Amino acid sequence: MLQQRPDVRRAVEADRVHKSVYTDPAIFDLEMERIFERVWIYCGHESQVRKPGDYYTLQIGRQPMIMVRGAEGEVNVLYNRCPHRGTMLVGDRQGSTGEFFRCSYHAWTFHTDGKLKNIPMMESGYEGTRWTRENPDCNVKRAARVENYRGFVFASLAADGPTLQEYLGPAKIAFDDMCDRAPAGEVEIVPNCFRVIQNSNWKIFLENQLDALHPSVTHQSTGRAAHEVELDIAKKTGHAPLSYHMLSAFATVTIDQWDNFQTLNYPHGHCILTGYMGLRPQDRDTLDYERVLAKAYGKQRKEEILSTNIHHVLLYPGLSVQSPLQQLRAVRPLGVDKTLTEIWHFRLKGAPEPIYRRALAYYNLVNSPSTMINADDLENFWKCQQGLTADGGEWVSFHRHYGHDIARDGMVETAPGMGTSEAPMRNQMKAWAEFMDKA
Ligand SMILES: [Fe+2]
Repeated sequence: MLQQRPDVRRAVEADRVHKSVYTDPAIFDLEMERIFERVWIYCGHESQVRKPGDYYTLQIGRQPMIMVRGAEGEVNVLYNRCPHRGTMLVGDRQGSTGEFFRCSYHAWTFHTDGKLKNIPMMESGYEGTRWTRENPDCNVKRAARVENYRGFVFASLAADGPTLQEYLGPAKIAFDDMCDRAPAGEVEIVPNCFRVIQNSNWKIFLENQLDALHPSVTHQSTGRAAHEVELDIAKKTGHAPLSYHMLSAFATVTIDQWDNFQTLNYPHGHCILTGYMGLRPQDRDTLDYERVLAKAYGKQRKEEILSTNIHHVLLYPGLSVQSPLQQLRAVRPLGVDKTLTEIWHFRLKGAPEPIYRRALAYYNLVNSPSTMINADDLENFWKCQQGLTADGGEWVSFHRHYGHDIARDGMVETAPGMGTSEAPMRNQMKAWAEFMDKA
């Protein structure tokens, strides 16, 4: 029976969206088909698969995929599926498959570019059948397109569409900013991530990423507690470690200050939140790092790099990047009310160790299971999902500062002093409606 397609056009208006976009399983299926299984989705960093045969598995939309380093050094992205009976070729999240994949069910083998290597007893078993070596169905299916920008690997399951750089547009600054901060011009992955299951729709998470209105509310008690300890330590020792400031900023940066930041909203749903939590102190570690950076790039370029004014970049629909702190969150929707996020962080190649320690501290302070920051957000996400499922109303409001957005050069920026605008949410839903409208 043909299923009725949901009417997504009526669900999105310029300043509000219907709750069904967060709760309707039919809309979720359509999102997987028309967004996640078409556009460029972040797979991972090339340093996750250093040697030929190294692989990492991930989900693109509803598809289990393998990112694998090929024999020629290229990074391939394959469907995690043996063409024989459909068995997943690898069951582990990551590892090395050596020179080839070997299906654990009937020992069919495949090269790391997906091409069939061998079927046991092929001559005797398949003579006269359609199953010949020349039949492309004998190979493991590959993602239609794979591209790499500064070490960050993306795949698209659609053969047509913009190139990765065309798709990312100005939002690719997320990767430039992160890599340029490394004296060697590149980063490498720290090979473990936090994996967090959120009991909420994937869009609720993305909307939160550039929501400058929420930190002073959601994270107020956590920030205040950190600030009290910070002041206490400073009183006793004259100086509290920067990590306390990273937490206390959630409470000490006021809503007025957040309003001084700006959001930049680009086509395809990408958004940037400018501003920065004052993480360029003049301590010895920072000054050492600045010297190394100046040696690598020259003084002027070093200044340019360190004054890049970004807090957060959202690369729609599956990635949010905090480049000055070398971390990113990849979004893997699992169901209409269940979302996996993988939170990774990176080392700046060539930077002194204390700079890595600082990024690691931030990474743990906001994401680890023992921090309150992530827990604060997760509780709100779950409460959003629960509330939206109820009959208390039909619409979600994105009216804040609506009508004040400034359109220029194909993008929309928030008016000065309106950093807490809901423009990023409006921009995401505008892109969502455009993607969903394309059959
Ligand atoms: Fe938050």
